Amino acid sequence: MEENILSALPGVLLPWYRENRRELPWRRDREPYHVWLSEIMLQQTRVEAVKGYYTRFLEALPTIEDLANCDDDTLHKLWEGLGYYSRVRNLKKAANQIMKRHGGRFPDTYEEVRALSGIGDYTAGAICSICFDYPTPAVDGNVLRVISRLTEDATPIDLPARKKEVSQLLAAVYPAEAGDFTQALMELGATLCGPNWKPRCQECPCAQFCGGAIHGAAEQFPVKLPKKGKKEEDRTVFILSCDGKYALQKRPNKGLLAGLWQFPNVSGKLDTPKALAAVEELGLRPRDILRIVERKHIFTHIRWEMRGIYLEVAECAGDFTWMTAEEIEASAALPTAFRQFWEETDHV
Ligand code: ADE
Repeated sequence: MEENILSALPGVLLPWYRENRRELPWRRDREPYHVWLSEIMLQQTRVEAVKGYYTRFLEALPTIEDLANCDDDTLHKLWEGLGYYSRVRNLKKAANQIMKRHGGRFPDTYEEVRALSGIGDYTAGAICSICFDYPTPAVDGNVLRVISRLTEDATPIDLPARKKEVSQLLAAVYPAEAGDFTQALMELGATLCGPNWKPRCQECPCAQFCGGAIHGAAEQFPVKLPKKGKKEEDRTVFILSCDGKYALQKRPNKGLLAGLWQFPNVSGKLDTPKALAAVEELGLRPRDILRIVERKHIFTHIRWEMRGIYLEVAECAGDFTWMTAEEIEASAALPTAFRQFWEETDHV
């Protein structure tokens, strides 16, 4: 049953994709470095958000060798605002592996591609099918949703075993035009059979054999396991200014937002007297509280509830790097959790 439905896919999806594919910057060629970068950037991130980053990244680092030799601050700056920064650290690590193991040439066997840092089953499958037309499926949330609806399969898609099973079912029906087929599945999941809105079954090339469409039940799929709650943490963030400069610190090299820049911050939401005392503890003399705002930031596993305190201090002292607005813009990668406070300063 499932097999019959899936074996009908290439015949309808390939012509549909060729007619309807969006023109995207990473679809201009099949250069493995380009496809690899795009697939890493697109993980957990919307196509519209990725476009600009992708183009800028390749202008700055046109070759794998450039990426391998790039310093971490420049690299973080190119990724600033995209989130999930371990992705870009793994990208550089893998670039070094490619220099060492493969003489700078991107490998062309599935096993060698899969062995690179930051490349899992999904990314290896995407690169090998898109660049080399290997019959290696790339099964992400989009593809799981499409397949669940087609086959009305109620297995929760969060189960790792389900991913493997779908991958095997798809591998058995892969056509010679493997790259187009991989992208056609992604495209269907992104455009007609999307996650947060009513699927557009009337326009779908699969509607005649899709169980979900035939029974008007597409929206009941995919089935997911109940979500785990996020841990919540209160923090107080200090936006300290003095003579047109701002106090920044580099985060530790391990853990959340490793190696990125931040405004000084402490655990808990401090009231004004406690906040002033905390700033004095940091070796500074507070002058004026300029503003206090409440903001939040949501990471994968944790949610920060933040109080931002804008404070003028008497001198550029303490264990900080004091930077001008120009220096921050040019060279400090400030992750979005902190950048939102920066954007509310009057630095412009
Ligand atoms: N999502 C993940 N990979 C993609 C790709 N290559 N094109 C469009 N959306 C995607």
